[in-house]
Amino acid sequence: MEFNDILIKRRAINHFDPNKGVDEALLKAIIEDGAKAPSSYNLQPYKLKVFRDPDEKAALRKLAFDQPKVTEAPVVLMVLADRDGWKEGNETLEKVFTGFVDAGGMQPDQKEWFVGTTAGLYGQSDESAQAFANKNAGLFAMSLMYAASHHGLHTHPMDGFDHAAVKMEFNIPDQYWIPMLIAIGHLKPGAEVYPKGWRQSYDEIVLD
Ligand SMILES: Cc1cc2nc3c(=O)[nH]c(=O)nc-3n(C[C@H](O)[C@H](O)[C@H](O)COP(=O)(O)O)c2cc1C
Repeated sequence: MEFNDILIKRRAINHFDPNKGVDEALLKAIIEDGAKAPSSYNLQPYKLKVFRDPDEKAALRKLAFDQPKVTEAPVVLMVLADRDGWKEGNETLEKVFTGFVDAGGMQPDQKEWFVGTTAGLYGQSDESAQAFANKNAGLFAMSLMYAASHHGLHTHPMDGFDHAAVKMEFNIPDQYWIPMLIAIGHLKPGAEVYPKGWRQSYDEIVLD
């Protein structure tokens, strides 16, 4: 599909076909395509939890204002934004740094400088760590949704859920914030998709 078609056709659909699944290979392709997203220093401070089990989805739905799409969609992704993704010792940061060294872009003795830089930018306060995690996880989430559209699937992002209760129910470690859930699947046959909502124009978006 042309990218412009993806931009237009991606919609947050409300009704998923509960009888049509998303197999493991397809989900893997979507996640790995989505992971092409940019991130600060390529630190990729995000993880996913994948929900397929009907009982788990039912428990999640209860904490997500009873939104039917949580159980109708064959797959629900929980996006986890890693507030510790800028810290020395963080598994992903360590891999990124090793990659920089292997590619010749950094010397091993530049690590202290590197983690000092990320701490200076993202570790100044809880707010800066939260912003770091959420902006990067948000870009990843968008990339995932476009990747799903590219593979012929539909999605629905949701932040309508009880954050604290979801973290507790699913034992999510404290370092993670959950910016959104993403339901993925196929449009239910015959389901109505509302006309695309109003969007700001260029003049409304660009400030003087
Ligand atoms: C971060 C985020 C959270 C959202 N949370 C919900 C939600 O909990 N429930 C819901 O029905 N829609 C939710 N939406 C969907 C929006 O209402 C929808 O994207 C918007 O109206 C634009 O429609 P479109 O995506 O079809 O273009 C959310 C969208 C985003 C980006």
